[in-house]
Amino acid sequence: MAVAAPASYSIPQKAIHWVMALLIFFNLIFSDNIEAWDRATDAGSVTPDIVAGANIHAYVGIAVLALAVLRLILRLTQGAPAAPAEEPAIFQLASKIAHGGLYLLFFLMPISGMLKYYADVDVAGSLHAGPIKIVLWVLVVGHILAIPVHHFVWKTNVATRMTKG
Ligand code: HEM
Ligand code: HEM
Repeated sequence: MAVAAPASYSIPQKAIHWVMALLIFFNLIFSDNIEAWDRATDAGSVTPDIVAGANIHAYVGIAVLALAVLRLILRLTQGAPAAPAEEPAIFQLASKIAHGGLYLLFFLMPISGMLKYYADVDVAGSLHAGPIKIVLWVLVVGHILAIPVHHFVWKTNVATRMTKG
């Protein structure tokens, strides 16, 4: 990328990282309302209450999509800190791929959900609740497990670049 690598993420990048993490966890963990909507549409028994509950999931997910656009613009214009040179090259590559994958999912997850919710595209719903969700969980858990490895094994400053760094 043309942008020179900064020493740390900018304050807006950090703010967006943490707000998005909260919104994504919310939708991953509290999905009962949208699952109830899915069952009710299949059974033809949707009520205004069910729609109101499902809309929370939809709006949180659309907020993720909007923030993802902003985050991508910031990433392209401000760049991101380089991986510490002392970390093994294979893990530097793994983290590049994982971050790229997360960016892709910031778009695929909300768009597939919207296609099911607003346009009744069943295959999009199956992907959203199936493989896309599973890959998102795997990347998020791997991402979090990597933090103590950077901090305690390689003793680099990666963990603080998204907080106080
Ligand atoms: C990053 C954002 C999102 C995350 C993390 C997320 C997560 C989830 C999860 C965990 C489920 C339950 C899957 C299961 O049955 O185990 C689900 C289902 C669903 N979500 Fe999302 N969602 C997101 C965005 C959206 C958006 C923006 C919409 C629509 C506007 C949406 C619509 C749906 C629908 C319709 C289902 C039911 C799908 C089905 O079972 O066929 N989601 N979502
Ligand atoms: C749903 C939850 C999360 C997602 C989707 C996520 C996603 C990401 C992505 C895509 C990056 C790359 C930076 C960028 O270019 O934007 C990143 C960086 C980072 N994240 Fe997360 N994150 C999540 C939760 C967390 C949590 C819970 C922690 C801490 C325990 C954390 C700590 C970090 C740190 C320290 C970095 C900086 C890594 C570096 O400098 O290369 N993240 N995150």
